[in-house]
Amino acid sequence: MAATGDGPLVLGIETSCDETGVGIVRGHTLLADAIASSVEEHARFGGVVPEVASRAHLEAMVPTIERACESAGIKMYDVDAIAVTSGPGLAGALLVGVAAAKALAIGLGKPIYGVNHLAAHVAVDQLEHGPLPEPCIAMLVSGGHSSLLKVSDVTVGVDPLGATIDDAAGEAFDKVARLLGLPFPGGPYIDKAARSGSSVAIDFPRGLTSGRDLERHRFDFSFSGLKTAVARWVEARERSGEPIPVEDVAASFQEAVCDVLTRKAVDAAVVHGVDDILIGGGVAANSRLRVFAEERAAAKGIRVRVPRPGLCTDNGAMVAALGAELVARGRDASDLDLPADSSMPVTTVVA
Ligand code: KG4
Ligand code: ZN
Repeated sequence: MAATGDGPLVLGIETSCDETGVGIVRGHTLLADAIASSVEEHARFGGVVPEVASRAHLEAMVPTIERACESAGIKMYDVDAIAVTSGPGLAGALLVGVAAAKALAIGLGKPIYGVNHLAAHVAVDQLEHGPLPEPCIAMLVSGGHSSLLKVSDVTVGVDPLGATIDDAAGEAFDKVARLLGLPFPGGPYIDKAARSGSSVAIDFPRGLTSGRDLERHRFDFSFSGLKTAVARWVEARERSGEPIPVEDVAASFQEAVCDVLTRKAVDAAVVHGVDDILIGGGVAANSRLRVFAEERAAAKGIRVRVPRPGLCTDNGAMVAALGAELVARGRDASDLDLPADSSMPVTTVVA
């Protein structure tokens, strides 16, 4: 890939959870996306163990930076800026990325942008589909977050419309997969099992979609009741001694999640008079969610953009993509004492 072309050359570092990601972007062109994942080290615990993730980031950081530079065909001193996820995420994990980014920025004498992980999930789509439609409704669904946002300019701020009031969408996938004896992280395994099951086999609840709940929480999500309903259904089957139809449970559960997510995203676009919906985060890789969203949005004349699965899950390219946009639009860089902020609010784009 060519390192020359239009736009600022930015190296982005992501360490908010279990992926050490280093991406290199020139404007809207992706030059490298190197990833080292510690997911297998967490699998036996059924969830990410923060201390294990931090240690893995430390070990993977330098080799991943080197791999990214090599595959982009650039030298580190060619970059115009360093971008790094400042938050939200696991405190110790974020700290490794932020410390590495500061060291690079000081060593190279380049500006540093400590960016919001959620805004980066939005900005990454530019690498695949070009400039973001402004405004757009962004639905970010992952293991750690589920939010509906109105984005007018991703470099300035996002307007939160709603979020989960309990479990994140990906967390629900992971917990239900565990109930069904599927590996961690559960999303891709449920997606696969669901392909051979019936989505109408079991009528699981759709949280916050009717009555007072809907009035009070129009753009919020709740997946904890759904998870409990799946657990009760599976327990009842176990008690009766009948086998558990894993594919049908997976398909019916997945249908309930995707029904709620797409219904609320399209409703948000209609209410706010916005013609474009962007879906990001690990759960955006779900095959049913993509199809459902497109069908429902098309019926209202709304377009849907979903980056390819590799750009939906956590990666360094998304951080570099947001960094490049910040540089291109002349936004202020962060101070060198920028924090690793585990609870960085979604309204803050740059620390
Ligand atoms: O964005 P991400 O890589 O990390 C977080 O910031 O959490 O998202 C990981 C989440 C996990 O919960 C995983 O089960 C889910 O995304 N996921 C999926 C699929 N692929 C990943 N969920 C449903 N269907 C998928 N195909
Ligand atoms: Zn994420």
